[in-house]
Order: sequence, then structure tokens, then C-alpha cells
Amino acid sequence: MNILVVGGGGREHAIIKKIKENSKVKKIYALPGNGGYGSDAQCVPIAATDIEKIVEFARSNEIDFAVVAPDDPLAMGAVDELEKAGIPSFGPTKSAAIIESSKVFSKNLMKKYSIPTARYEVFDSPEKAKEYLEKSDYPIVIKADGLALGKGVIIAEDKKQAFDAVDSVMNDKVFGESGNSIVIEEFLEGPEVSVLSFTDGKTVVPMVSSMDHKRALDGDKGSNTGGMGTVAPNPYYTADVANECMEKIFLPTVSAMNKEGRPFIGCLYLGLRLTKNGPKGIEYNCRFGDPETQVVLPLLKSDLLDIMMAVQSSTLSEVSVEFSDECACCVVKASSGYPKKYEKGYEITVSADFPQDALLYFAGAKNEGGKLLTNGGRVLGVTAVADTLEGAVKKAYSAADKVKFDNEYMRTDIGKRALSADI
Ligand code: AMP
Ligand code: GLY
Repeated sequence: MNILVVGGGGREHAIIKKIKENSKVKKIYALPGNGGYGSDAQCVPIAATDIEKIVEFARSNEIDFAVVAPDDPLAMGAVDELEKAGIPSFGPTKSAAIIESSKVFSKNLMKKYSIPTARYEVFDSPEKAKEYLEKSDYPIVIKADGLALGKGVIIAEDKKQAFDAVDSVMNDKVFGESGNSIVIEEFLEGPEVSVLSFTDGKTVVPMVSSMDHKRALDGDKGSNTGGMGTVAPNPYYTADVANECMEKIFLPTVSAMNKEGRPFIGCLYLGLRLTKNGPKGIEYNCRFGDPETQVVLPLLKSDLLDIMMAVQSSTLSEVSVEFSDECACCVVKASSGYPKKYEKGYEITVSADFPQDALLYFAGAKNEGGKLLTNGGRVLGVTAVADTLEGAVKKAYSAADKVKFDNEYMRTDIGKRALSADI
């Protein structure tokens, strides 16, 4: 089979490495991929958002199955267009991807179908938003309605910060049209859990849970990033919590999307907070998380391509989806300065004694004249699997030391919170 993967980050590299394990796979194309994928895929310089060119490429290269990984092309209808062209594709349609591309939609969905979430109000006027903020308790959370490269959520500690957030999102339009409406919601306290689920709109199969580390600096300090590292499973996500989430959040969400005439088919990402009043949904993403995928897929024992094809053909209940009971840790190596200003173009070297059983996923890398150079904020992720979480963390850090580039930065405490979880 010829497979096409849309996207070019660490998440897509993890998907590609896993799909490659299927013996039916002859060739994998990544659009656009990145220079670090090496022999794992053939990278083609077509942007992940250039849907017309993606469809044209799929048509003329005998693609048997496509996987659309990032949020933008999903929200733009990449899966709709590929399927229209006769290419079976994994990922939600545009009408279902709205669960991530509009926070107003997702909050209203949760309210309408009594899915536990933070209390909230929606505003499309900055004046009305400020009137509400005058009488609110703090901290409070302000969210731009649309996609904002993961930066559209502002946690305001006081009224001044909240007013500044409203001004920058709604008046200065720092996220463009995404800030036409905002959600203002209650700040929830409790451990955060990410759970990715396969669903064909009928069956929901949650994957192993994980914990992201979103802030740039050790001790969960500094700016929010795309994610500086992950561990799986998340120790706070016990079997009891998992059952409660299935019953109160996952199944009701998939059923709600069906009732809205927007069946969700693909990978549904649930961002949860485990509060003292039970688990609550914080956000939905319509795709695999990055870098959650880099710890979840290495623990998948079943065949990823078979599962994806079963999701696409509405036969998910007929395939086995099994996870190993080991633990995984992914440490992200970034360019110093990320997520703000950083330099690129430094050579990446992987030492000959990089452990054979560790996994290296490239994100911001390019190949220039046979040399691998840094080319982004998050440059790469190193994942290790072990019997214990402690073992996985140790192994991931020791493998990460075998990859070097100038100007590198990584957090030194990935997994620390999980290891000291009081459950
Ligand atoms: P998002 O961009 O939607 O992934 O949100 C970024 C981060 O903001 C989440 O991972 C949470 O840590 C935090 N967050 C979002 N909503 C809330 C909330 N209601 N209460 C507390 N933290 C939140
Ligand atoms: N790691 C968070 C996300 O993928 O949205």
C-alpha cells in the first residue's frame, strides 16, 4: 500500500514509524514532512494546508490511504476533499473538526449535552466581556474562539491581566478573526490528563492516558508551549477515573456529535482536569496530540494502520486495540528561546551509541547537503519505554544526551510530577 501522511512534526514522525510496521505498506509519503524523517518516509514539499495540491498528489501517486494529522488542514476540510477524490482518509471531516476549531461550539456542545466542564460565558463584545470581568473571581480563563497556534488560552490572575487579554484578543486581534468571540470560564484546579481515543462514530476506544508538560521551563514555569515532554500512562488516571470519563464525557461527546449531524470519525483528544468535583473536560482536539502521540504510539501493541482503516470504514469494533502495560517518556529538545525568539540552522549530531531501543522523532529539522540542521522551535523528541515510569524517564534523558546541537534547550523535570503523584 502507498500511504500519505499530511503534516511535518514529531507527532507525524511517530505516526509514520508506527504505520511502517505494517507489512502491507510499500511506500509512505510525508507532506511536507521534515529533513529528519530520513528513510522513514519520502518528504514532498507541499504545505499541509495546500489542500488542492495534496489531493492532486494523492491522485497521481496511487495513494491507498491518507492520514491527516494537524488541526489546520482538518478544519479546512482536507479529509472531505481527499475522500471526494476517492482516497480513504483518517481524520474528521470539516464539520466535525469544529469541535477543536471553535471553542464556542465545543463549550455549547458540553452544556447542551450535560458533559462536565468549567462554567463559562461567551462574549462577542469587549465591553460586555469587561462588565462580566468586573464582578468575576480570579484567576479566570479567557479563550479566543478559533485556532490560535495553541496560544489562545490566557489564564488571568487579576482584573488587569483579564482586561489586557480582552484588549489584545478582541481589539488588537492578535489571533486575527479567531478572536471575534471569546469564552470566559472558571479556572479549574486539579491534575491534567490527556486522553486520545479512536472513534468511528459508533465505538470509542480510548488509548493509554498521558501527561503533557506545556510550560517552557522546569517547575511548570515560563510561557505555554506546544508541549516540552510527555509521560504515559498518567498515574492520576486510575481505572475508576477512566470508567467515569468514558461514561460521562467520551461516550456522551461522540453521541452528541452524531445528534448534531457532525459524526466524529478519527482521533478525538480529550483534555481533562481531575477536580475535587470529578473529571471535567477542558478542551477537545480533533487530532492526535503533539507530543502525546510520541509516548502513546510506542505503547500500542496492535497495528496502527489496521486500526485507522477500521475507523475510516466504521468497523472499529472488529479490530483489537491493545496497549502494553509498560511506561513511556518523551523529552523534547528545543531551540533555546522557544516559544519566543530563537535561532535556527545549527547542526544536529546523533552519537553512534544512541540506544537502539530509544526512539528519535524529528520536528524542526532540515537536511542541507547531507547535514541535519535545526529548523524550528521544537527540534526533536526522544522517547524511551521501560517497565516503570522511573526507568522510562531515566532512559529518555540518557538517550537525549546522545543527541546534540548548539543552542539546545530541554526541561530537566519531565515525569517528575507523575513520579510524585499522590493517588
Ligand atoms: P489549550 O490551548 O486549550 O490546550 O489550553 C492551554 C492550557 O490552559 C490547558 O492545558 C490548561 O492547562 C489550561 N486551561 C484551559 N482551560 C482551563 C480552565 N478552565 N482551568 C484551568 N486551566 C485551564
Ligand atoms: N500537546 C497538546 C496538543 O497537542 O494540543
